[in-house]
Amino acid sequence: MTTLHADAPTLAIVIVGLPARGKTFISHKVMRYFNWLGYPTRQFNVGAYRRQHLGARLDHDFFDIRNETATVARNRVANMALDDMMAWFDSGGEVGIYDATNTTSARRRLIRERCEGRGIGVLFIESICGEETVEANIRATKLNSPDYEGIDPAQAARDFRARIEHYAEAYEHVDESDGSYIKLIDVGRKIELNGIAGFLPSRLVSFLVNLHTGERSILLTRHGQTLFNQAGRIGGDAELSDSGREFAYGLRDFYQREIAAKGLTASVWASTMQRSLATAEIVGRTDAMWWALSEIDAGICDGLTYPEIQNQHPDLFAARAADKLNYRYPQGESYTDLIQRTEPVVLELERQRAPVLVITHRAVARVLYGYLMGVPREKIPHVDVPLHVVFELTPRAYGCDEIQHRVGPANPGDSKIDWERDTRES
Ligand code: F6P
Repeated sequence: MTTLHADAPTLAIVIVGLPARGKTFISHKVMRYFNWLGYPTRQFNVGAYRRQHLGARLDHDFFDIRNETATVARNRVANMALDDMMAWFDSGGEVGIYDATNTTSARRRLIRERCEGRGIGVLFIESICGEETVEANIRATKLNSPDYEGIDPAQAARDFRARIEHYAEAYEHVDESDGSYIKLIDVGRKIELNGIAGFLPSRLVSFLVNLHTGERSILLTRHGQTLFNQAGRIGGDAELSDSGREFAYGLRDFYQREIAAKGLTASVWASTMQRSLATAEIVGRTDAMWWALSEIDAGICDGLTYPEIQNQHPDLFAARAADKLNYRYPQGESYTDLIQRTEPVVLELERQRAPVLVITHRAVARVLYGYLMGVPREKIPHVDVPLHVVFELTPRAYGCDEIQHRVGPANPGDSKIDWERDTRES
């Protein structure tokens, strides 16, 4: 396991908030981000333990603090999740996200004592939302949850509101006595910090300030085919081929049809390489030019074909095939380097509220796709990202929807090798 900082301590992120405050949304996002960065992270959702061990479709009485039998049962499942989080740390997990209401200071003290007793740092994230956000959360996630399967939506909403009221009776907000915390008001509109120090907590703050729940798509594609792609060569900074230019015109039409015609505007982001810039120029706009979006630097292999690499540098070729994620080309980069390099792009993508069309390169597109779709890190270098395909990815509460659009000439020549196997499904 390679971490960015050898001294990164284990960290328990404990989520706090009434039901429908986006706690699971935040947990999912943070889990995906930290795993992508290379910190093994797992989420422990007490609601899922409750459904598994006590059954779904329990009505609001079950959440009444005066219901003693139910309280015992709820504490039991909450402790099961906590035990599993401790076991996760014992097995080498670096970040655990304890996703539950944790609305009383006594409960939070108990969790903190357990973690700190084992040398695990604790950080609370409290999510506080206004009525509008709560209403949207209920509609987006709660009414379709297994807790309300087959129940009339109006009745489900009433029951859920009653459930919130039960928790609200005993709710004590996080304060300085809890230690380190991030208070998120309306998913990032306002944020309050206490006792935040260290690498992971600081990453977390910059990530959370960019989060929002608004809907927009991220359109990810590679530049049009180049003369280097045609010749099977990697790297370089070659011009677009005729087929590549045809793709760029197709992408311009796609932009008009799928974005402009719907009254939307998408920013177009390109890398600083001419094949990406030339594609954006034909589309008709370049809103941002990112060096960070430039293709993996193949170092001493730049300009070679894969068979040439195999003949001229057989050890290098074998080493890369054995560990494509971590292998760094001599004088060049690895996929793990790309993940670090593109982190600012990811934060900026999270912040965007309108669609963005990202025109990048194969390795970088894999890394961004990997982040958005939650692909396990070791599979990222193998995601199939063909030329002349636009990946439309729309973030939802707990993941992204994906549509692939073929644009322009199909099956253009590309430098390919059999480590291109698509591992998205496996
Ligand atoms: O062939 C196109 C290309 O973008 C090269 O410039 C780059 O080195 C390569 O793809 C990345 O793919 P892989 O990591 O599979 O070699």
